[in-house]
Amino acid sequence: MLLTIRSLTKSFPGTKALDGVNFDLVAGEVHALLGENGAGKSTLIKCLTGAYRRDAGEIRLDGRAISPGSTSEAQDLGIGTVYQEVNLLANLTVAQNLTFGREPRRFGLVDGRAQKRAAEEMLQGYGLNIDVGRDLGSYSVAIQQIIAIARAVEVSGKVLILDEPTASLDAAEVAMLFDVVRRLRDRGLGIVFVSHFLDQVFALCDRLTVLRNGQHVVTERTDGLDRLALIHHMLGRELEAVETQGHAEGAGVQKPEMLRFDGMGRAGVIEPFDLKVRRGEVIGFAGLLGSGRTESAELLFGLRRARTGSARDTDGPLTIDTPQAAIAAGFGFAPEDRKTEGIVADLSIRENIILALQARRGWARRLPRAEQDRLAAQYIESLDIRTSDAEKPIGELSGGNQQKVVLARWLAMNPRFLILDEPTRGIDVGAHAEILKLIGRLTEDGMSVLIISSELDELVVAADRIIVVRDRRHVRELTGADLTADTILAAIAADDSPDESSGKNPVAIAAADAPKTAKEVR
Ligand SMILES: Nc1ncnc2c1ncn2[C@@H]1O[C@H](COP(=O)(O)OP(=O)(O)OP(=O)(O)O)[C@@H](O)[C@H]1O
Ligand SMILES: [Mg+2]
Repeated sequence: MLLTIRSLTKSFPGTKALDGVNFDLVAGEVHALLGENGAGKSTLIKCLTGAYRRDAGEIRLDGRAISPGSTSEAQDLGIGTVYQEVNLLANLTVAQNLTFGREPRRFGLVDGRAQKRAAEEMLQGYGLNIDVGRDLGSYSVAIQQIIAIARAVEVSGKVLILDEPTASLDAAEVAMLFDVVRRLRDRGLGIVFVSHFLDQVFALCDRLTVLRNGQHVVTERTDGLDRLALIHHMLGRELEAVETQGHAEGAGVQKPEMLRFDGMGRAGVIEPFDLKVRRGEVIGFAGLLGSGRTESAELLFGLRRARTGSARDTDGPLTIDTPQAAIAAGFGFAPEDRKTEGIVADLSIRENIILALQARRGWARRLPRAEQDRLAAQYIESLDIRTSDAEKPIGELSGGNQQKVVLARWLAMNPRFLILDEPTRGIDVGAHAEILKLIGRLTEDGMSVLIISSELDELVVAADRIIVVRDRRHVRELTGADLTADTILAAIAADDSPDESSGKNPVAIAAADAPKTAKEVR
């Protein structure tokens, strides 16, 4: 046994994050660590890497009891960690990042040539063909992550921990990362993989362990394991089926037009497009990462100035040239990168929820405290935000629960047009279904929603209408019977005229056979 954890316990004020957890890792396996938001996954990892001190329990590495007091101590023992946010330095070169703290020296100075050579050697066997003399920041997140892995493996070499490494990668990048992980497994490393993407877990992992409310639920081999049984282990209850909403029942009923954007565009960012928004409808933007989905939404919200185009509602023209103007017009926008743009870590959950609402009223007109408490309680309940208290700093919530708070902030504004960029990323299966249901309820009350998502199945369930964005152009609009993951994929992959949907061209066929979403990559 490479790593054994027995009776691991860790409490925070008001929360028992880990309650007597057992976990084993053997050399040469990829072992998934699963559970709902707040189950204790990140806490277990932080105890293992010395970021947190455990309250009780035992950790053995190669049979020897260890108690790392810091991440560097854990690294020296052989335990390396790579998080979703790459924590290397973007403005140093790849070689400098790889050899940081252990630079080869000549006459007391860093030997640049030896440094490059060492870095190239470290990257051997990772299947990367890159220039180690370039800045790390000039490479994609996926490549940066692989470089972070190479460094962790070089420094540590026995146990590699990956905490939600794929959350912001597209399908091809996930495949590249998995290739690296498999190579390392075959070299005999023990790898712990934390993810909310069950398809990835089945594709990559040999065994899995489920945590629930800080307790160990089950450890099993992944092959042959039934998916529903797994979800049941994670939730401790059956997952309610999400009914298809909107396009099923609403079909035929023409909802009234509420907003209209004509010729919105900006050279080099997105070609001019029109968009009509009807009251109470859900519009989906589908497309690859970098296709122009987010950029389109940013133009609609005034986050980027449109160079062409105009907006109007039923009362007349609207000027949306800044986010403030958009908010005043009743728009909301929950951005994708919630970790960096979304939360104010040392404000409470309540304060984070009312933040945008308060900003719109102006800071001089404080929202009455009773109203703040009511809103916080309402969204903690309806989004199932796992916390003992609305007054806790949001930084103490698990990652997925922080994300729900940011969503609550925009819902509290009660916008007429809400834009959600990847609203369910990092959110567990149970909460995922809850959020889709909530969107359904809001649209019944007349709110219109624009969802940008890489998860085609989710878009198909939620949206009345899907717009496919490709190479910075809106190329197709899908409705009715065309709202299927296969049709979307064909439109994303087609390489010519906007209405070409067929599987005749080889690119379309290759892509249509490819996994449906990033999470399904093998
Ligand atoms: N620094 C902290 N201070 C107080 N409470 C914390 C702290 N870190 C975690 N917790 C609490 O411990 C519990 C477990 O959180 P943890 O971050 O381990 O969950 P997780 O399984 O990683 O969830 P997610 O999938 O959302 O990332 C949660 O209730 C969380 O609020
Ligand atoms: Mg976590």
